[in-house]
Amino acid sequence: PDEGPLSGRHLLVTSGPTHEPIDPVRYIANRSSGAQGTAIAVALLRLGARVTFVTGPASAAPPEGAEVVKVETAAEMLAAVEAALPADAAVFAAAVADWRVETAQACKIKKRAGALPGLSLAENPDILARVAGMAVGRPDLVVGFAAETDEVISHATAKRARKGCDWILANDVSPGTGIMGGTENAVTLITAEGAEDWPRMSKRAVAARLADRLAEALGSSGGT
Ligand code: C5P
Repeated sequence: PDEGPLSGRHLLVTSGPTHEPIDPVRYIANRSSGAQGTAIAVALLRLGARVTFVTGPASAAPPEGAEVVKVETAAEMLAAVEAALPADAAVFAAAVADWRVETAQACKIKKRAGALPGLSLAENPDILARVAGMAVGRPDLVVGFAAETDEVISHATAKRARKGCDWILANDVSPGTGIMGGTENAVTLITAEGAEDWPRMSKRAVAARLADRLAEALGSSGGT
């Protein structure tokens, strides 16, 4: 719909894992399904936003009606995010690989008895921190996620400060919560004002609530 509290607004969402190549057939990855990021994009579209959805190779089908940009690596994700700006707000829900293989091999690494290939790793760019730290053209609201297993609020509060973002949605991904890869989420919203616990609810409901909060915070004037 082009009617809604976010009509005229451009929202950027990153989602899914990234794949970091080792050679043409192998890669480093993680278990992100892209479910939460996709649900956020859908909720923003429902409120009338124009949504650019930058996604790594995810199992979830990308949201209909978004401008979908498919990437593989963290470096590609950063480039796609920069190309998609300006945006009124950006939500970084992707599980970006922390490391890439420094020099991916052009040919498949051969298996040789008794010899293990050495993989030397390099740090990936922190896309959220980059965008949050932009001196010019920074979105009005920059939102990140923090998946924690302990001391959720203090770790996420520190992460918010370190990354320079406005909001962090912190979730407890301890084994036993069933959150990683599941359909439900239990989050705490960390803002400059403090921490706000949301009850455990579906990832879709988390997305709807976040979209409402973004619409409220962006207000009804302007737009990128
Ligand atoms: O540092 P950590 O990975 O825990 O931070 C998680 C948040 O930062 C998420 O919002 C994630 O999308 C974002 N992130 C990013 N680029 C990275 C690492 C994390 O955008 N290289």
